[in-house]
Amino acid sequence: MKSNTRSVLFDTDIGIDDAMALLFLHYAPEIQLLGITTRFGNASVEDTTRNALNVVEHFKLKVPVFRGAARPLAARLGEGFPAHVHGNNGLGDVDLGEPSLKYETMNAAQAIVDNSALCREQGKRLSIVAVGGLTNIAHALALDGLIIKDIEEVIVMGGAFGYNGHRGNVSPVAEANIASDPLAADIVFSSDLTTTIVGLDVTHEVTVDEAFLELLVKQAGEAGQFIRDIMRFYLEFYFGINQRRECPLHDSCAVAYLLQPDLFSTIKNPVRVVTEGIAIGQTIHSDDIRRFVSKEWENIPNSNVCIGVDADAVLKLYQATLARAGSSCS
Ligand code: BDR
Ligand code: CA
Repeated sequence: MKSNTRSVLFDTDIGIDDAMALLFLHYAPEIQLLGITTRFGNASVEDTTRNALNVVEHFKLKVPVFRGAARPLAARLGEGFPAHVHGNNGLGDVDLGEPSLKYETMNAAQAIVDNSALCREQGKRLSIVAVGGLTNIAHALALDGLIIKDIEEVIVMGGAFGYNGHRGNVSPVAEANIASDPLAADIVFSSDLTTTIVGLDVTHEVTVDEAFLELLVKQAGEAGQFIRDIMRFYLEFYFGINQRRECPLHDSCAVAYLLQPDLFSTIKNPVRVVTEGIAIGQTIHSDDIRRFVSKEWENIPNSNVCIGVDADAVLKLYQATLARAGSSCS
């Protein structure tokens, strides 16, 4: 294995765009995927864990799946699961059947702790790509706060700050992942973890359409066909919103940041999350200019907040990486 190989955990509520992101990680060179940790979100944790096992089995990923949180730490926005976005099973109702693989007996939070320690023992540091709410990571911090020094970075798909005209998708100000466990997100963003937030500000700039999917079918073999199949449902949902058959590549943007952070522009500021009231789930960053009356952003470490993206380059990176599936590299 080359020395610049990154050790990565994928924390997910695996729905449609999460599955695309997982395959992106799998086919990316110089990534060692240590495991997949699941949680509720796009579907129940039973369904998201089955989806993870199904993708692992179908595409021969050879990574363990650790089942995680079934509920948030505290209040969340809404209830139930967004079947209208990701289908009843979370994968656009594409049925891969019952997987023969089983999830591990260790739970997701413990797996985050143990994999951090494993990386330390190997003289490495762990990167976490988190594309659902942050419940599992908050639980892991509660189990062992010392993991922070063994974690290189946490790249979070979540949040919305209003850049590029993009605000919330589950309320005028809240993004779905953060709104699914606002307290967990506030704990993670307030911790000493090195955190990058890849929010709607940039993911709504990176959209895929039918032509993109047709190219994937041609270039990425079975993986491309699978993505085309699950994306039918997602495209229908977005067509209902904006009458265009195109949709954001949310979770894959977090993977793109891991692979090529220079495709994004960022600012560094302390971030807090609103945990109650009508703005529950809103992500708010401080700025460097003012001294506020509010003390709520004081002594909070900076997060990297993505505010710009080279969308074409992200799409090309996705295509080129998935093309490795077509040439049967992994
Ligand atoms: C996020 O919410 C989920 O529906 C997607 O998988 C993505 O992680 C976008 O707000
Ligand atoms: Ca997701």
